[in-house]
Amino acid sequence: MQSPPGIQIRPMTSEDIEQVLHIEQASFPLPWTREHFVSELEARHSFPYVAVTDGIVAGYVCLMSLFEEAQILDIAVAPEMRGRGIAQELLGHAIAVAREKEAELLALEVRVSNISAIALYERLGFVRTGLRQKYYEGREDAVLMEKRV
Ligand SMILES: CC(C)(COP(=O)(O)OP(=O)(O)OC[C@H]1O[C@@H](n2cnc3c(N)ncnc32)[C@H](O)[C@@H]1OP(=O)(O)O)[C@@H](O)C(=O)NCCC(=O)NCCS
Repeated sequence: MQSPPGIQIRPMTSEDIEQVLHIEQASFPLPWTREHFVSELEARHSFPYVAVTDGIVAGYVCLMSLFEEAQILDIAVAPEMRGRGIAQELLGHAIAVAREKEAELLALEVRVSNISAIALYERLGFVRTGLRQKYYEGREDAVLMEKRV
């Protein structure tokens, strides 16, 4: 698939947080707070990126990379910008950064009901490695996935 036209991926800055929070709140039942994103900006092993189009934040990914394991902690795309390959682009970037940091594995957790996200991860070479039972709100299972980078 071709990269979406006009999308630029760059490191997240504190000026992006307002727009990021807006997308986060539209995307998750238990959204991360401002403090979560501030700490991602400050943490030594965290690498948050935004996808920007026409100067507007369309999506973001928070990557953590520590020794041999990297993890996708959070990823979302603004509802009106979905289905254009932006998440795929963000994930491709996260995979490249994980490699650069010399991680061997990139892992993530996803709700078992999030069929389209799971399909996207599988398309990018992630495989299911387990299930964390009742992980979300004590009710929904998490699928654990990883990709060798
Ligand atoms: C999951 C999520 C990040 C995907 O973002 P996205 O930018 O829509 O993802 P992509 O466009 O890269 O790929 C998703 C779909 O668009 C399709 N697509 C990608 N590029 C396309 C294009 N140029 N034209 C048409 N369709 C395209 C893909 O085939 C894929 O289809 P499918 O979902 O029907 O299988 C987004 O839905 C989201 O923010 N969801 C809420 C938060 C969430 O669930 N995050 C993941 C938690 S683990």
